[in-house]
Amino acid sequence: MESTPLYRQVAGHYRRAIEAGTLTAGDRMPSVRALMGLHGVSLSTALQACRQLESDGLLEARPRAGYFVSAPQRAPLAPLTEPDAALPDPAQYVGIHQRISGLLARSQHQHVHTNLGGAYCAPSLYPADALRSAAARALRRHPMLFAEAVEPEGHAPLRGAIARQALHARMQLAPEEIVITHGCTEALNLALRAVAGPGDVIAVESPTYYGLLQILESLGMRALEIPCSPQTGMSLEALELAAQHYDNIRAVAVVPNLQNPLGCIMPDAHKARLVQWCEARGIALIEDDCFSATADGDTQPAAAKAWDSSGNVIHCASLHKVLAPGMRLGWIAAGKWQPRVEMLKFGLSRPNEMLSQMAAADFLASGAHERHLRRLRTRLQLQREWFAQAVATSFPAGTRLGSPRGGMHLWVEMPAQVSSEAVFDQALQAGIRVMPGVMFSNAGRFDHCLRINCGTPRSAQIERALATLAGVVQKLAG
Ligand SMILES: Cc1ncc(COP(=O)(O)O)c(C=O)c1O
Repeated sequence: MESTPLYRQVAGHYRRAIEAGTLTAGDRMPSVRALMGLHGVSLSTALQACRQLESDGLLEARPRAGYFVSAPQRAPLAPLTEPDAALPDPAQYVGIHQRISGLLARSQHQHVHTNLGGAYCAPSLYPADALRSAAARALRRHPMLFAEAVEPEGHAPLRGAIARQALHARMQLAPEEIVITHGCTEALNLALRAVAGPGDVIAVESPTYYGLLQILESLGMRALEIPCSPQTGMSLEALELAAQHYDNIRAVAVVPNLQNPLGCIMPDAHKARLVQWCEARGIALIEDDCFSATADGDTQPAAAKAWDSSGNVIHCASLHKVLAPGMRLGWIAAGKWQPRVEMLKFGLSRPNEMLSQMAAADFLASGAHERHLRRLRTRLQLQREWFAQAVATSFPAGTRLGSPRGGMHLWVEMPAQVSSEAVFDQALQAGIRVMPGVMFSNAGRFDHCLRINCGTPRSAQIERALATLAGVVQKLAG
């Protein structure tokens, strides 16, 4: 610490406050005089600290008013390419699981010191202490917990707390309409099994979350990839066109809010149209909603299920990304398929264990949860902006970048000649893990793209990893 210049120590203090969401965009910084008194530093040190924060894009100087926390800046890169709405191919499904599993296995057998490949945040961003205390309280109150049978569809107070949370996404759900699952992965498995069988076609976004492609392949179902706009999500025109050519679409599986990997949010009018379109054709709509609580600002985007009046929308969600990756808690509101989903869940895995459900219910019911979400959103926004700046300044010319309004991912389109699989392999050799575009589609259209996780706070290690990654991409771009 002593070797760090004084002005950097003062700047670091306020950088951490901004990253933690204690100071947010528009907040006034203490005056230079106040900084001198608070930190026992000279005028020039206090000024230098403010200028450092200003040049890092965290503060802006307003004439005669002082320094204020800036709104995050956008990276000056071209936006992502919009897809052409050409007729989607029924993607060949054989082997996709093997390809994805092969890539995952390659990264698991290498020593990874910087993981930019996951879909969750660094442990420091989650309320681990509060959850541990809640779990200890639950065990004190229920000393026989591990000896007793579990509640069939999930812990009633957790189902109640989730139903109250769902109001933020404009869904009206009774606690009994919610079934607790092992993550969103089990919820998606249940939803697909409830509405389709082997050989059936499921329309998915392109690119889409690779886990969904793995689930479809494991169930013997076929993914029909529908082009997805980086701004507005699945193209409804392309979906309509596809339905004219394929009469065996059994379900549409979408991530309307903060799509993985693009980060787009489908406009409400599209959500309403999609819900209506699916209902009119007797096609189930499976909505995957893991990230919407991380959307920037104070208003959570509405779920497509908010427009569901007939029970045709199956809403699948998770606490994994926003609260506690270690709990593996998810949930499903299956509408008219609920009895079938309950039966399938019982047959597949039986109910979830109780301790993590009790701890999560306790935390969700407390005001601490809203505070946690506000902090998480602010930190993710800052981190995304910082990662975006780093990509914008160090990746080769021709790189394009999404600007998601929430979540923990950046989708990067590299120059067309750069193979994401080569980037993946070379970055792994250097101990860095990123997700290659090739994992997000069967159709090979995203081979030059990368998904980068921004859920880890800025540090010298992350700066070095991004610089190494940029070097790999620069070399491959030639
Ligand atoms: C879009 C999407 N759906 C589902 C999942 C799986 O969720 P869980 O980890 O809760 O099983 C993920 C995880 O990355 C995801 O990104």
